[in-house]
Amino acid sequence: MDILKRSSKVWISELEANLDEAWAKVEADVSSKGRAKFVNPLKLCMFKLLIKCFLGVDVSESPEIAESGVSIVDIWFILMLLPTISQNVFQPLEGIFIHTFAYPSFLVRRGYNKLADFIRTRGHEVVQRGVTEYGLSEEEAVHNLFFMIGFNAFEGFNLLLPDLLNQLLSDQTGLQDRLRVEARQMGGPVLTFDSVKQMPHIRSLVYETLRFNPRVPLQYARARKDFRLSSHEASFDIKKGELLCGYQVLVARDPVVFDDPESFKPDRFVGEKGTELLKYLIWSNGPETGTPTESNKQCMGKEYVVLTASVIVAYLLRRYDSMAGDGSTITALEKVK
Ligand code: HEM
Repeated sequence: MDILKRSSKVWISELEANLDEAWAKVEADVSSKGRAKFVNPLKLCMFKLLIKCFLGVDVSESPEIAESGVSIVDIWFILMLLPTISQNVFQPLEGIFIHTFAYPSFLVRRGYNKLADFIRTRGHEVVQRGVTEYGLSEEEAVHNLFFMIGFNAFEGFNLLLPDLLNQLLSDQTGLQDRLRVEARQMGGPVLTFDSVKQMPHIRSLVYETLRFNPRVPLQYARARKDFRLSSHEASFDIKKGELLCGYQVLVARDPVVFDDPESFKPDRFVGEKGTELLKYLIWSNGPETGTPTESNKQCMGKEYVVLTASVIVAYLLRRYDSMAGDGSTITALEKVK
């Protein structure tokens, strides 16, 4: 939280500079090949942003990390999650070979160590803050930073952003045109966290994307004390130490709370009624109206996630008069005249 707060001054300027680079590449591909994959340029954009904001370092200081940092994190992440993801392979083979063993760490050790060394040396100042102000050992600080940058932040955004852009790009109801008016008329000439707070329809699109397809659908926890858990229809007595699993998709599509929950409604969270619904939006492992603390395991980056995603949408709507594509590919772009 401390690191996030310190980075807030440079977050948006870095994000915009990286977006300029990423979308220049996308435009070049669209004009030469007629289409462009945007996922990799966007990943590099977010990787550079997170390294700069969390460590205070330009990735370009290490050509090796600039070149391979994204794939190092991706491979480490996939290997960690693979045992938990259903592959639709013939059972019991999938159960035996994919979900029984953790994959051995030597498969990713070389890349992991490279990025950890980068954090240890180039991010020395932030690592030392972990040591002096929070009582961590140097190794703990390095690996915690690795995990937060790589797993929580980088891969979190990688799950959310293609989904969000898919909703924007593939919509056939004039959503882009409606949001473009808001992006261009509200929030002043320079995008900031405050300016997207004046764009309720764009923020609502982000919230609805998080509701419709919660990117981290399952959460597990052990009860810290006896308590009563109530749903609309029933109550359950939970005993201290019992293991609980929450499935966000069920909560996010609760018909008692959300009108027509199986439909994607980009304006769902606009206005008084929409704002009221935020207390039932729990993509971050807690209500959107809640605050992350050391004890509630809510996403530390929750405000940054919604504001950053909103800035990216507003940026694109200001940059382009029209866009077409899906969650991975741009097929047409018309730049603002
Ligand atoms: C600035 C970017 C981000 C940062 C710094 C960040 C940081 C964190 C941290 C530190 C936690 C662990 C909290 C704890 O256990 O006490 C966490 C949890 C979580 N984050 Fe984020 N996060 C970011 C982006 C995202 C994104 C983009 C998503 C999803 C779209 C996401 C979804 C979650 C969820 C669901 C949890 C709870 C996980 C669980 O306990 O099962 N985060 N985040």
